[in-house]
Parts: sequence; C-alpha cells; structure tokens
Amino acid sequence: MTDRYGVIGHPIAHSKSPVIHAQFARQTGHDIRYEAIDIEPRKLKKTIRRLVRDGIRGFNVTVPHKEAIADLMDANVGQAERAGAVNTVSVTSDHSLAGDNTDGIGLIRDLTHNLRVSLEGATVLVLGAGGATRGIVPALLDAGTESLTIANRTLQRAQDLADTFGNEGDIAASTFEDLANQRFELVINATSAGLQGEVPPFPPSIIGPNTVCYDLSYAMTETPFVAWAREHDCRHAHQGWGMLVEQAAESFRIWRGVRPDTGPVLRQLR
Ligand code: ATR
Repeated sequence: MTDRYGVIGHPIAHSKSPVIHAQFARQTGHDIRYEAIDIEPRKLKKTIRRLVRDGIRGFNVTVPHKEAIADLMDANVGQAERAGAVNTVSVTSDHSLAGDNTDGIGLIRDLTHNLRVSLEGATVLVLGAGGATRGIVPALLDAGTESLTIANRTLQRAQDLADTFGNEGDIAASTFEDLANQRFELVINATSAGLQGEVPPFPPSIIGPNTVCYDLSYAMTETPFVAWAREHDCRHAHQGWGMLVEQAAESFRIWRGVRPDTGPVLRQLR
C-alpha cells in the first residue's frame, strides 16, 4: 500500500519537497506519495487532526508553522525538544504525533560535507530570530563554533533566543545596527525578508575577504541575500538548496529507516 506523506505551510505552492521526496522514493524503492498541503495558521489544529484521521504517516512543516506545531505534538523528540521548533512529524499507529527537527542537521551537513566549511572555532552570525533560527542554533552550538551572535530587527526575539540557549555556549543578541564594525567567518541569513524580495539593513562590515555567507532561502535565480553578499565582495555565498535536500533526507530516514543519497538529487535541483 502507498504510504502518504506531505509538507504543510502557507504559502506552500513553491515547495520543492514533493519533487525531492519523489526522487528519494524512486532511489530507495519505497512506495510513498508526498504532497504539498496549504494550511492557514488559524486552521492548523483542525487540519492536522483530519490529515491524521485520513491516514497520513508523517509530514514536514515549514513557514509559518514551525513553532506553533510544537505545541500540538504528543512528544517533541531529538532536536525539536531543544529547539522548540518542529520540521518533521511522525504519526504512530495509535495516531500520536512525534515532532523532530532536521533543519540543524541538514544545515551542518551541507556546510561541512558538501561545501567543506569548517565550523570548529568559527565566529558565526545568524540574521533573524524566528522559527528557522531556533531550528539551527542547537546544531551550530554542537558543531564547536567559537561564538554565536543572533541579530534581529526585533531585538527582544534575539535576546529571548540568547537567553534560551545561553547555558549551552557563547551567544550574544544584537540589532542589525550594532553589528557595524564587527566581522564574522560565517554569516547565515535566517530572516524571511527575501520572500518579499527585501534585504534588511545589514552592515556590509560583517563580511570580510574569507567570510562564508549562507542563505537558508533558495530560488531559481540569486536570492536577494546572496546578491547582496556578492555586491559586498563575498566570494563564498550560497543559497540553501543543499540544506533543503539534506534536511529532507534526514526526515526520510526518520520515517523510512533509510537515508537516501543526496548527491544526485542536489545536482539535479541545481
Ligand atoms: P521563520 O520560521 O522563517 O523563522 P518567522 O518565525 O516568522 O519565520 O521569523 C521571520 C524572521 O525574519 C524574523 O526574525 C523576522 O524579524 P522580526 O522578529 O523582527 O519580525 C525576520 N524578518 C522578516 N521580514 C523581515 C524584514 N523585512 N526585515 C527584517 N527582518 C525580517
């Protein structure tokens, strides 16, 4: 019997996850169907109940539901428990829901394995303090980074994250303005500003000759953040395609017990 999976978000039509999981299924010989499901925030709880009743076996979660969904889980396991944000839900045979988060593992695997970026001892800046940032902070701390700065338009949200994870490593909160005259080895854009075609007022001083810039967003053309980084002489600016495929592979492993080979899928997407 075909097992049913999906990705929930709002909007969701742009999602590449159905294509990626279809390729994983072909590669591993698993009989699954994976679809994009649009859910408005106010209908989240009710629609999840219906999907579970209809027999869905698991689903990914994307903007804007990653934090809200954590409260609807029977258990948050793995990285989701630490992050307070969920991107992978497994439905058990008795219809209970387990939330996990593969974003951090996906990011670290793309940076270290695919892009050969060393995180050990690195000074890292994360721009943005929403659900996406929550998902990646624990994994960045585990990767042995020297320091982590979280900068956000709304300082309080960055401060809340710095407080939440403060006992796990060296974390500072900042406004964008206060980053002027600071330079980092790795700069990660986790704001959703690019979805509106915008680049927030990041001071160019954050980029030095050897800085790696990484955008969690991805697009068929350059994302606004990658374009901004290149305009400011960044020689190593990457979109989030690799993270997208790696986090998907980790979700597939959680659901199906086998980790697909990401190389061919990533090459085809790029
Ligand atoms: P996600 O799950 O993608 O993190 P989110 O929780 O809504 O989504 O968080 C969006 C992040 O992008 C926030 O850090 C938000 O900043 P605020 O906390 O100040 O709202 C940031 N963001 C979105 N649009 C932005 C813009 N135009 N300029 C600056 N930051 C923006």
